[in-house]
Formats: sequence, C-alpha cells, structure tokens
Amino acid sequence: MSSLANVDPEIAELIKAEERRQADTVKLIPSENYVSRAVLEATGTVLTNKYSEGYAGKRYYEGQQVIDQIETLAIERAKALFGVTHANVQPYSGSPANLAIYMAFLNPGDTVMGMGLPFGGHLTHGWSVSATGKWFTPVRYGVRRDTGRIDMDEVRALALEHRPKLIFCGGTAIPRTIDFPAFAEIAREVGAVLAADIAHIAGLVAGGAHPSPVGHADVISTTTHKTLRGPRGAMLMTSDDEHAKALNKAVFPGLQGGPHNHTTAAIAVALREASTDDFRAYAQQVVRNAKALAEELAARGFELVSGGTDNHLVLIDLTSKGVAGKPAAQALDRAGLETNYNTVPFDPRKPFDPSGLRIGTPSVTSRGMGEAEMRQIAAWMDEVVTALAKDDAEEVITRVHGEVSELTGRFPAPGLS
Ligand SMILES: Cc1ncc(COP(=O)(O)O)c(C=O)c1O
Repeated sequence: MSSLANVDPEIAELIKAEERRQADTVKLIPSENYVSRAVLEATGTVLTNKYSEGYAGKRYYEGQQVIDQIETLAIERAKALFGVTHANVQPYSGSPANLAIYMAFLNPGDTVMGMGLPFGGHLTHGWSVSATGKWFTPVRYGVRRDTGRIDMDEVRALALEHRPKLIFCGGTAIPRTIDFPAFAEIAREVGAVLAADIAHIAGLVAGGAHPSPVGHADVISTTTHKTLRGPRGAMLMTSDDEHAKALNKAVFPGLQGGPHNHTTAAIAVALREASTDDFRAYAQQVVRNAKALAEELAARGFELVSGGTDNHLVLIDLTSKGVAGKPAAQALDRAGLETNYNTVPFDPRKPFDPSGLRIGTPSVTSRGMGEAEMRQIAAWMDEVVTALAKDDAEEVITRVHGEVSELTGRFPAPGLS
C-alpha cells in the first residue's frame, strides 16, 4: 500500500476504511465472502498489464509464454474440481457468462425459460429489465405459494407449452436444493439446452455440500466470488465437445476482448484452495451454520421462505414482524450486521422496498464462526428488528453494535490485515 498511499492517498485511505468496515462487520450477504491473502495477491499483479485475446496456443498477441500456462492451470483445476471435460475461465463476471450461453445456443427472439426474479431467479435468466428479457422471449417459473419451493409440475407444463430453447435453473435467492435431474428430464423432453447457474452454490458443489449438476445440465455457469471464495469472475463448464466450442466462440470473440489475466490467476489459486479437505469442511460448515441460523430465527418467530434452508442462504419474510425489509436492513447495518433487503415470493411490496431480508453464512463461516455464533447473530437480529417495530431501536442498535465488535474481534476475517 505504500506506493498507493503516496500516489493517491485519498483512494488508499478509502481502501483502508473499507478494510476496517469489513473487519468490524458481521457480513451476512449470501453472495459475498472473504478471499484469502493468496487470492488477493494474485489479483494485484503485473498480469493486469497483458493482453491475450484468444485461447492458450491460439492468441492474437505475442508474449503469451506465461499467460498460456496460467490460463491452462486454471482450466485444468476447474475441470478436476467439478468433474467436467471443458472449462472457460475468461467470462468477466456472472452476467457476461450467462449472456455467452444465449449467444452460444439462441438467436434473438428465441424463448428462454428461467426462474422469475421475484421468486429468486437472476436478472440474466430472462427478467424484463435485462437484455436477456428484452432480446429474447422469456417464460418464467416460480415457487408454490404453500411450500415456497419450485413447482416442478409447473416448470414441466410451462416448458411443454412454450418449448424454450434454453432453460436456466439456479438463482440468487433460493434456500433449497436444486433438483438438477428433474430439470434435465424436462429439458430433454422439450429439446432445450439446460443451463445450471450455480453462481451461489459453486463452493458447496465443489465441497460436496450440494448435489452437482454435472451429468444433468448441458452447461454450467458460475461466478467465482461467492461460496467458491475466489476473485470477482466467472466460468462456463460443460462435458460436451460441441457445446464447449460454441461457448468458447461466444465468450471470445462473441462478447469479450482480452481476458483479465490477473483474475484468471486468482481463479486458479481459489480453485486450488477449493480442492483441499479444509475447503470441504468449510462447505459443510456453511450449511450447518445456515441451518442453525434458520432454526434460531424461526424459533424467534421469523417467517422463513420455504420454512428453512438446505444451503448457505436464508430468505426471511418480515411481514409477521411488522417491519419492511429496507428499514430492517438499514437498522441491522448500523448495528454491524450486514444483510440485504430482498423481495419474497408473492411480495405485495415494491422491489425497492420489499418485505424480505436475504442472509447467508459464507462469510461468517470463512471467519471460523460456528453454530453458537449463528444463534447469537439470530438473537441480535431479533432484538434489532423487534425494537425497530416498536420505533425504539437506537439504544438497542448501539448496544448490539458493541457486542458485534467484540465478536468480530474474536474471529478475524481471512485476507484482511
Ligand atoms: C445466480 C446468479 N447468476 C449470475 C449472477 C451475476 O453475477 P455478476 O454479478 O458477477 O454479474 C449472480 C449475481 O448475483 C447470481 O446470483
């Protein structure tokens, strides 16, 4: 940081402030994590200086002696970890990775079926404000009102009616196991390509804490920065040679130029870390922690979408607590508990002021916290939300913040100095 502090003290100071904030906060946002120092180091390297459009052995610039080795290592590690025969590690992030799937298999106007955003799907699965919803014809499935779970009968009926060319499974706010075999059967029945977007659960899949889509989905898309605990980036995987060719062409030259080689190196590091026994233990603990958090919240009268969780994520409907998601998330943030407000299925409120809170355990588990700490966090959430409902939260927020600081002091976050 010394040269950064000399050149740009303003930015250096802000980075330090963000580091302090991350250290002092109980981060419950389920799509975030703390990467290791090794991943951080790989990200901040001279690899950012190099252009390398193309793929290893077939580039449009000279000087690829080292970059080819780095990208090949990342690919080989992804293949070994997930058990696929092809991996593309170049997508800049999850959204461009998903766009590459459209480019590989669809023409503009073709039909795509994905989970609706308000039910837990991602924007890029055909939601109206996304290019994927504007340039393609979207069909959306949701969850059952009584169970909060995906209704596979509805998925099948919609697929038979609309004959989509592409079906997405996976999403951003799904607390339950994704039934990849059932989606695969439906996709086969209607002749669609099945894309499993495992952005949220990739680390759980890698660590054996969630079933794998391999052998069921035609294509797998994932970000690398959520449960997988890598840098901000993405990967596309498949075990079909023809699909692999189409995906590679779609990523480059279809959608992107030069890959971000510093990110590729950091992805390789994260994949190495994710193939260790320690990471497997981490993935199992993420789920145990989420279950403990969910159980304690439910015991304290919080209503959970689908009644609980199978993975790293808990979706809370705050309606029964008499508070909306946004003010709750803001009050919790001031108490040192970082969450995000979220729509819940069949939410009567607007997306910018919804009824729900989305929380998860990837980050707190990376800090080494266990079930006892999850129960304490649930108790703090209850205290803050209950006080907020009575319009009497200031004192509680101040006290809880002090207690949160004591906890974060005992569990230092990886990667932070
Ligand atoms: C399921 C899913 N797919 C794709 C993405 C998009 O990833 P990115 O934000 O890296 O573009 C996200 C991000 O939240 C996601 O949750």
